[in-house]
Formats: sequence, C-alpha cells, structure tokens
Amino acid sequence: MPPNKQEQAKIAARLISQMSLEEKLGQLTLAENNSISPAQARDYKIGAVLSGGGGNPTPNTPASWRDMVCAYQEAALETRLGIPLLYGSDAVHGHNNLRGAVIFPHNIGLGAARDADLVERIGNATARELLGTSAHWTFAPSVSVPQDLRWGRSYEGYSEDPALVAELGAALVRGLQAGGAAACAKHFIADGAAAWRGTKPEAGAATQGSTAPPQAETPQVDASLGQWQIDQGDAAIDEAALRGQHLPPYQAAVAAGVLTVMASYSSWNGQKLHGHRYLLTDLLKDELGFNGFVVTDWMAIDQLDADYSQCVVQAINAGIDMVMVPYDFARFLRALREAVETGAIPTARLDDAVRRILTVKAALGLFDAPYGAPELLPSIGAPQRRALAREAAGKSCTLLVNRGGLLPLPRALPRLFVAGRAADDIGLQCGGWTISWQGQAGATTSGTTLLQGIHAAVSADTPVEYAPDGHFPGTARAPVGIVTLHEEPYAEGFGDRADLALSAEEIALLQRARARCDQLIVLLISGRPRIITRQLPLMDALIAAWLPGSEGAGIADVLFGAQPFGGRLPYRWPRSMAQITDKTADPLWQYGYGLKT
Ligand code: BGC
Ligand code: BGC
Repeated sequence: MPPNKQEQAKIAARLISQMSLEEKLGQLTLAENNSISPAQARDYKIGAVLSGGGGNPTPNTPASWRDMVCAYQEAALETRLGIPLLYGSDAVHGHNNLRGAVIFPHNIGLGAARDADLVERIGNATARELLGTSAHWTFAPSVSVPQDLRWGRSYEGYSEDPALVAELGAALVRGLQAGGAAACAKHFIADGAAAWRGTKPEAGAATQGSTAPPQAETPQVDASLGQWQIDQGDAAIDEAALRGQHLPPYQAAVAAGVLTVMASYSSWNGQKLHGHRYLLTDLLKDELGFNGFVVTDWMAIDQLDADYSQCVVQAINAGIDMVMVPYDFARFLRALREAVETGAIPTARLDDAVRRILTVKAALGLFDAPYGAPELLPSIGAPQRRALAREAAGKSCTLLVNRGGLLPLPRALPRLFVAGRAADDIGLQCGGWTISWQGQAGATTSGTTLLQGIHAAVSADTPVEYAPDGHFPGTARAPVGIVTLHEEPYAEGFGDRADLALSAEEIALLQRARARCDQLIVLLISGRPRIITRQLPLMDALIAAWLPGSEGAGIADVLFGAQPFGGRLPYRWPRSMAQITDKTADPLWQYGYGLKT
C-alpha cells in the first residue's frame, strides 16, 4: 500500500529540509532518454526521464524497456538522498511505444463506445503494462475538447462534448492510478479551441513543430497539406467559453485525483499557456484545488521568450512545476539556478514545485517500490488484455448506414471480397503514437488485422478473397464486399488538414470494389469523420471504425453479429468542409448518431 496523504506530505517535507539547491533544481527537470545517460541523471540529480514518441530501446522488447528504465532508477537511488526518479511515456492507447504491448483504440473510438467502465479497465491494463517495464507515469489522458476536425489531434480527444470528455477522462485517470501509474491530464487548457491559422508556418521555427533539437534543422513542413495550421495555435474565446467548454474535463480529472497535468503549447487570446499564471496557478491550483504537479510540454517553454532565462522565469513563476527539456537539460539547470539565486524565482515557489513532485512520487509508492512490478513483465500483451482491446474495438465501431439490414452478415457466404490496405495492416489500424511518434503502416507490432478477424469469423466453406487495391482477379462477382478506406497515420500538427474529403485513390478503390460486389460495406479507418457525402450512394453499409488498435478481430465481431453495433458519434459528421466550422448547419449525421444491431 502506498503511503496515505499525511505520510506523503511528511516524506516530502523531511526531504525538502535536507535538500541542497542543486538537488531541488534537479527535481524540476524532465530529460529525454536519448539525451541523457543514467550516470548523467545521477550526477545532475535529475527528477524525471521520459521516452518521447518512439523513444524506445533497441531491441524494443519488454525486457529491454525494463532494463532501460531500471538503469535510470538505479542511478537515481545512488544519489545522496536516494530520491527515486519518475519515468514517463506517452502511453496514450496502451503502452504504445512498446512493441508487443496491447494497443487500445484511440480516444475518439472510446468516445464512440461511451463506456466509462471500459475506459477504466483500459486505464488499469495500461498501468499494469507500464509497471511491468518499471515506468510509473503516462502523459494521458488527453482531455482536449476538439472543436475543429481539421486538427491532427482530433482523435486524441474523446469527443467534441465536454461532458463526455470529462466522464471518460476521469475514468481513465481512475483506472491508471488504481493500477499504480500516474495519469497526466493534458493539454491544459483549450488546446481543442485553437483556430486555423491560414498562414504558412513561420520559417525556422522550432516554435511550430516541436520535433527537432535546437541545433538541428526543423522538419520540412508541407504547407500544401495545411500542416501545423491549428496545432499549438491560439484559442480566441472568452472566459465563459473557456470555462464552459474546456474546463469540465479538468474539474473531473482533479476530482478523480489526477496526479499530474500538462500545460498546452497553445495560447489563450494570444498569451501562451506555459506562461499563464492566472490559468495555471489561480484557476488550476487555487480554484480547482489541484495538488499534483504541472509539467510542461516538449520544449514548450522555449516559445515564451527569445531569452531562455526569461522563459524559465516566466514558466516557473506562472505555476509550472516540472520542465520537459528533452535535449539540453544542463542549460535549463543553469538558467534555473541563476533565476533562484537572483531571486527572479522565489525560493518559496521552488520549494512548492519540489514538494508537489516529491508528493506525487510518494503517492506512487516509489520510495518503497521504485522498480515497479517485475512480476508483470511476462503478462505484457497477454491474451486477457488483448480480449479487452478487442471488446473496445468492437464497441467503438459506429454504424452509420445499413441499407436493408445488411449487417450483421451471416457467417456463411457464397463469396466475400475484401479490399483496402487497411484491412490487413496493424500499423494503419493503430494510427499515430504507435511504436513511433507518427505511427506507420505495416506489421509494426503484434495483434490481429481485420482480415485475420474475418477469416476467423466466417464459416469454413466461405471463400474470402483479398485484394488490397480492389483489383480482384477474374470476373466473378461477390454478393458482399468489404472495402476499407483509411488515413495514413499522423500525430500532432502533421495531421492538420485543410481537406478531409476522400482522396482520388480512395474514390477509385471504392468504385472498383463497388463494380464487383452486389452489396458493399465501407469501413473507415480514420482519426476523424471524413467528407463522404458524394460517395454515399455507392455504399450499402458504412462503419466508422476510428483507429481501433491492435485487435482487429473486434471489428469482425460486430460485422458478423458476435457482438452488437452500439457506437455513437462522438463528433457531428459534416456534410461538407464548409460545415467544419459552421456548427449551425445541419450535418450529415448529428452528434450521438449511430445505428444498433
Ligand atoms: C506532445 C505531448 C506529449 C509530449 C511528449 C509533445 O510534443 O504535445 O502530447 O506528451 O510531446 O512526447
Ligand atoms: C514529440 C515526441 C517525439 C519528438 C520527436 C516531439 O514533438 O512529442 O514524442 O519523440 O517530437 O523528435
């Protein structure tokens, strides 16, 4: 049993009374695994280390993940006071950087499933997989309330509705923390309200993509795709809208005892969140009573000012407690020390940040069990957790069209045609934040593809023919065909898109499949609604499967009636791009729509 609140406070107070300035500064530092060795983490007395998206050891196995994390922890325990370090990772749909871990549907799918108990069980399972590798912290849940589907992070949000986000976000927090891992509600606040910029990303800006070490070139941004047009942008809304639309998930997360909160790269009416004292301190800490610690996003404080020392001062004084400095932790420590020594950052503020961080470590039981739960290592990716992901994949499927009651399909069919690359591709099923930061097509991890699920579901005498490009050999027709259409994986601003219509290739695939089947089922694998109005006449059935994760068999379960369809739209489905921002127009399908079987 981890210590109770009183004992946690005692542990923190006792340590603070013994800590040198250097030891305190280290606690505020979150460095990235590729940029710091365990010995440096010890020598600089670093408080926390993270794996960014794809920050994996080689080979990427549970055992080497665990060895990597334990090496940092052993080094931390060698310091004078032996304060354990906190290891974090973006386990945003399962322990998704780790090859072989179970990958759950992205949040948009869980928003469609609307099952808080399911989300809580997912949180718990994710925590157990994290602890098996000795990591105690995940940068999840995202409790964004996305208002513009062109945003590349729409799928990270459960819904456009704050009440649903609040309910499911709190459920994930409970599940994760009951399982022994600290949750992190992000990105505070109103990241989902950022507006389309309509300008080309500024040249040379590590301020846009956060992707590159400062000394390296920033990534090439393909402006034709409209990338980085919303992400990290500005929410131009009044305080009533901020509180009404974007605060409820944080209230719910705090009520559920969330241990950490991540600040947003974005701004509110032109002021960056990372320097926003009113929002971070007055609202989150004082008004909501958040007692955990506030962490920054990746290099996000660098965007506050041209002068790095100013960045540090503004952020810490605004209420940031821990700073994610992926690359140059030594520079951060120098700037922080100077700011404390000159009084630019009051000692009381420094001590408050240290107290919050140590209290979270105590709450996780790190002082007694710093290495997590080794006995859980063999259960990573275990069948019972895959069954949970399969349940979630099925429950998230949202049935939008079902002409003549085509679905569910009988298990025995004279012939079944299946088309589309995403029908047999784990990487496409999983989307971004899977093994690598952006995700990628292919057999990137273990699981079951939709096609494998279909093979297992149909009767032994049902011929299933699969043609990824829809070119079925011969001239035979099938009574029923299934075609998958998909978005290529993306994460963050790389997914910002001006146009959500189907591509020319997708339309061609759809038409080819249509020509060979009497009845056609279309299955969308995507991080958001797409514009499909003009193609609707080609479809006898349409399913939004979102980004279902590693267990594609869950989709086969609902297709063939082993489980009912029950998903409901977590976002309204626009008829046209013009309706993306015009919320008064009559959409193709309303929020909450979904057929049952
Ligand atoms: C993202 C966060 C993420 C962090 C660490 C940032 O770029 O905005 O959501 O937790 O990186 O990977
Ligand atoms: C992401 C990290 C990722 C890094 C890659 C960041 O913006 O949040 O998770 O590893 O970029 O350079």
